[in-house]
Amino acid sequence: MSTPITLVVATTPAPTLAIGKSLTNNMPWPRLPSEMSYFARVTRRVPPPPPNSPHKYANAVIMGRKTWESLPPKYRPLPGRINVVVSRDHASSLGTSKGLGGGEFWVGNIEEGVKLLKQKFPSKPPPQDMTEGSLELHQIFIIGGSQIYKLAMELPKDNEAYPTRILHTTILSPDYGSEEGVDVVFPPIDEEQWKRGDVDRLVDVTGEERAVVEGVKNEEGVQFEFGLWERVPA
Ligand SMILES: NC(=O)c1ccc[n+]([C@@H]2O[C@H](COP(=O)([O-])OP(=O)(O)OC[C@H]3O[C@@H](n4cnc5c(N)ncnc54)[C@H](OP(=O)(O)O)[C@@H]3O)[C@@H](O)[C@H]2O)c1
Repeated sequence: MSTPITLVVATTPAPTLAIGKSLTNNMPWPRLPSEMSYFARVTRRVPPPPPNSPHKYANAVIMGRKTWESLPPKYRPLPGRINVVVSRDHASSLGTSKGLGGGEFWVGNIEEGVKLLKQKFPSKPPPQDMTEGSLELHQIFIIGGSQIYKLAMELPKDNEAYPTRILHTTILSPDYGSEEGVDVVFPPIDEEQWKRGDVDRLVDVTGEERAVVEGVKNEEGVQFEFGLWERVPA
């Protein structure tokens, strides 16, 4: 089975789809603990290891250099996930990471990141690779920011990094999209190419409890809801 590639994003409602502030390189809304823990659980969730095997599954997150820099240093690399950072400048340090907890990989583009992950953490490792601590890649999440989302959304279908899902949290209110300085956006979601999934599908895809993902949430004075888009088969 091919490794699913999923974009994960929180935006203001369409058509604005605002995600950040370029001047301060952060998000327009305050920390939303339940949204952040949803992101952490969903991007970390893997199947249990095969019985009697030292083999483990892990997910990877791919992000742009600016998003990497927007993470508080104590959360960098994001724990429990293989971290990949896309940059034009830093590709030379590629390969220094050991995977989970071993630092991050730097790559020159998204596709290179996906290839590197598949090569270092193969889906069907040969028996000689079943050493203690060996990791098998389960899912890849592309976690921003704007430049990286845009590159990912524009990839052709035959590209190794072609994303097939968007986990989309909509920040319903306040109306951050109209606030001054909110100028970083997610690319338009073409409804001929992407179809909204329902709550059952969101539960299936994320592994979350229905009560967690269903309905409008209210936290820190912010209203938001979890959602999902999937590619319409060509
Ligand atoms: N709401 C959300 O869900 C969410 C999620 C993530 C981020 N954000 C927000 O998004 C903003 C950051 O997004 P951003 O668009 O400014 O930056 P970004 O996409 O995180 O990173 C941009 C960097 O990626 C590298 N890059 C871009 N295109 C490339 C290419 N074609 N080839 C190789 N490397 C390339 C470059 O790194 P170098 O300059 O090193 O070459 C570029 O500076 C922040 O405000 C952040 O808070 C929001």
